[in-house]
Amino acid sequence: TLPTHVKLVEVGPRDGLQNEKETIPVEVKIELVDRLTDAGFVNIEAASFVSPKWVPQMATSAEVMDRIRRKPGVDYSALTPNMKGFEAALAAQADEVVIFGAASEAFSQRNINCSIAESIERFRDVAQAAKQNGVRLRGSISCSFGCPYQGEVAPDAVADVVRRLRDLGCDEIDIADTIGVATPAKIHAVYETVAKDYPLAQLSGHFHDTYGQALVNIYAALQAGVSIFHSSVAGLGGCPYAKGATGNVATEDVVYMLNGLGIHTGIDLDKVVDAGEFISRHLGRKAASRAGNAIAAK
Ligand code: HMG
Ligand code: MG
Repeated sequence: TLPTHVKLVEVGPRDGLQNEKETIPVEVKIELVDRLTDAGFVNIEAASFVSPKWVPQMATSAEVMDRIRRKPGVDYSALTPNMKGFEAALAAQADEVVIFGAASEAFSQRNINCSIAESIERFRDVAQAAKQNGVRLRGSISCSFGCPYQGEVAPDAVADVVRRLRDLGCDEIDIADTIGVATPAKIHAVYETVAKDYPLAQLSGHFHDTYGQALVNIYAALQAGVSIFHSSVAGLGGCPYAKGATGNVATEDVVYMLNGLGIHTGIDLDKVVDAGEFISRHLGRKAASRAGNAIAAK
């Protein structure tokens, strides 16, 4: 049986925009987050406190966090690879910080410039500081279904990182398909393996749509009992350290499917479509959401 409620984490303002070449005005980023707040998300990944040399687009994260209109009950989350990032996130009053590692050594090196083991050591301080400051802690595992540099990734390699993030005290752990290569059987295999070590209710699915599999993979993960998913308005996005990776699954498509399944999300689809039109207009291209474009054309 499928879950009756799903928590959707909107990652468009972070994962969606981090790879854009042209600098997006901070006003546009703020309006995007505010529109998503109005649409009913309970968690919006709004910022990333990483090196501006590595990801220039996220350099305005502090200003975004400072000027968004915050709604009580909504978590505004931020990526924090190390203590420098955590201090910035704390100052910006992030409700949740994200430590992000990988299930593949090669990707860990390319993305955060250290090995998996080293990353866990860096995260230890961040995790401790988050607990001390009462900030929610989320962990993310890139390349859980395949890696652009090393290819196959075994479910046991994912489980190993899940256990390490669990031991750091993560309140939620994201199983990420960075390059969108998973298919439903792999989804079942990975969640079945990792759920032996960590509560299924606190595991999420963060699926990119590079191979057009994201929506069917969400359906497979729902069948496996997963009830937290990440998506990006207008299908924005791509990872700067995963060549050819496209955006996350489009939020509009996910909400449309969940609505059809009678699964409650608390999200106003029309408002998400409007937010998608807003940001796509700004970026000068059509939204990468089939449902969004169909609804907007009506
Ligand atoms: P490093 O060079 O090993 O770190 O980078 P370092 O500590 O030696 O610092 C080097 C320089 O960066 C120094 O500045 C630091 O001050 C600065 P300099 O002295 O040269 O002027 N620095 C920072 N500045 C601002 N904020 C910080 C920070 N830390 C150091 N927090 C580091 C290590 C992790 C910092 C670097 O590799 C980095 O920033 N990488 C960015 C990775 C990233 O953002 N990737 C995209 C997000 S992850 C993703 O999209 C995947 C996900 O969606 C899930 C999925 O789909 O798979 C989450
Ligand atoms: Mg991602």
